[in-house]
Amino acid sequence: MWNMEIVEILREASDRIYENVKHLAGTEHAAGDFGIGAGGDVSRNIDIVAEKTVLDYLKEINFDCVVLGEECGRVELSKNPKGYVIMDAIDGSANAVRGVPFFCSSLAFATQDKLSSITDGVITNLANGETYWASKNRGSFFNDEKIQVHNKDPIYKIVGINTSGATTDLMKRLHPIFENHNHTRHFGANALEMALFARGHMDIFIDLRDKIRIQDIAAGYLIVKEAGGLLLDADLNPLDADLSYETRVSFIAASNQDILDEIMSQINSND
Ligand code: IPD
Ligand code: CA
Repeated sequence: MWNMEIVEILREASDRIYENVKHLAGTEHAAGDFGIGAGGDVSRNIDIVAEKTVLDYLKEINFDCVVLGEECGRVELSKNPKGYVIMDAIDGSANAVRGVPFFCSSLAFATQDKLSSITDGVITNLANGETYWASKNRGSFFNDEKIQVHNKDPIYKIVGINTSGATTDLMKRLHPIFENHNHTRHFGANALEMALFARGHMDIFIDLRDKIRIQDIAAGYLIVKEAGGLLLDADLNPLDADLSYETRVSFIAASNQDILDEIMSQINSND
């Protein structure tokens, strides 16, 4: 039986992922094809190594939970689970396989089948081992330092937008944002982009593709909220969703109402 806080368990599991994959990224070995995973994409060797690391550790400490992994699907580690571990062991797999140093692990714990029941989240930058983490009502942290979303008038306004696989219609809707002299960015690992946003490196992060899975955003959900960010769905209601594998969401993470209004008015100027 474990006697650690849940967030410490998630941090230890993330550190173990980092140790096991840090020499794999960008190698031929990282890319090995294991067929389609539960999340619907091809599982790469690096994904499998990272997930196995977490599953082995949770079994080692007899953690009573159900794991919802992006590759392995639902794995019941206990007959008496205390909740769900929502696992994207490698977020940004394309970057990891190609050796672009922007990919991470994302582990969250939820007590119920809802994003809003997440109590703990950990995102580890697997290019360097740095960790972003949060526990409900205790704030968000980068390593051991408390973090907050950016709340001053920025010198450069950084607007993160996930455009990967976006439809022509969505690109047309978003076009004013690109035109309006914002500094738009897209790095290729949603969880780590949410963590950078929570740390104040971006003013807003937008993913309106209706494609992102729960595994990719579960830890980021809590880290953004505990850092004081607004986290909204495409209708600008507070983001929530169930934890099913069919669920795909759109969301906007904004550091305050002013930047949200500014960017929304740019998008809406196009309607
Ligand atoms: C992907 C990343 C990427 C996003 C994709 C996701 P994965 O996660 O978060 O930024 O554009 O939609 O699938 O597949 O590397 O875990
Ligand atoms: Ca993944």
